[in-house]
Amino acid sequence: MKYLIREMTPSDIEDVIVGEESVFGESLGFDLLYTELKLNPYAFYFVLEIDTEVKGYIGTWIEGERGEIVNFYVDKEYQGMGFGQMLLSFYLELAKMSGVKNVSLEVRASNNVAISLYEKNGFKFSHKREKYYKNGEDALVLIKEL
Ligand SMILES: CC(C)(COP(=O)(O)OP(=O)(O)OC[C@H]1O[C@@H](n2cnc3c(N)ncnc32)[C@H](O)[C@@H]1OP(=O)(O)O)[C@@H](O)C(=O)NCCC(=O)NCCS
Repeated sequence: MKYLIREMTPSDIEDVIVGEESVFGESLGFDLLYTELKLNPYAFYFVLEIDTEVKGYIGTWIEGERGEIVNFYVDKEYQGMGFGQMLLSFYLELAKMSGVKNVSLEVRASNNVAISLYEKNGFKFSHKREKYYKNGEDALVLIKEL
């Protein structure tokens, strides 16, 4: 198995949409992803390529001393193999080198796998956004100081 992390380009959008829909049941959508890649100077998006196919991604912002994780997944068939940790470590290292002091993210209150990964990486609960998701679920805002 050959894998790498590389910058996401517009030609990856269709693959990422398919992946997001399969993992989350919905996608950020072409327009938003395209705008992020082409127009947002603070957006840093990376794909995980395994055997030349896109099998995950991490979409982030770096804006001065603040970083944010916008979206993040690994394809179901490759979950639990360390790729999520690899993508997260890659971003945290980049953020640190860029002078970011704190990174925030939102996660579904029921997403124990992701919460466990974030806590293992030093993220701490900050506050709750009640009924934040379409199905009425709360979002937990987690923050990590770098
Ligand atoms: C969250 C996600 C990106 C993690 O990626 P992954 O490749 O599966 O994770 P890794 O194999 O690198 O595991 C890293 C840590 O995640 C946690 N984890 C992974 N699989 C788990 C499982 N089945 N049960 C509990 N915790 C788990 C553990 O803390 C693990 O660390 P450990 O191996 O030291 O125990 C991936 O599971 C995913 O895409 N989930 C669906 C989408 C999602 O929830 N995205 C995050 C939105 S905020």
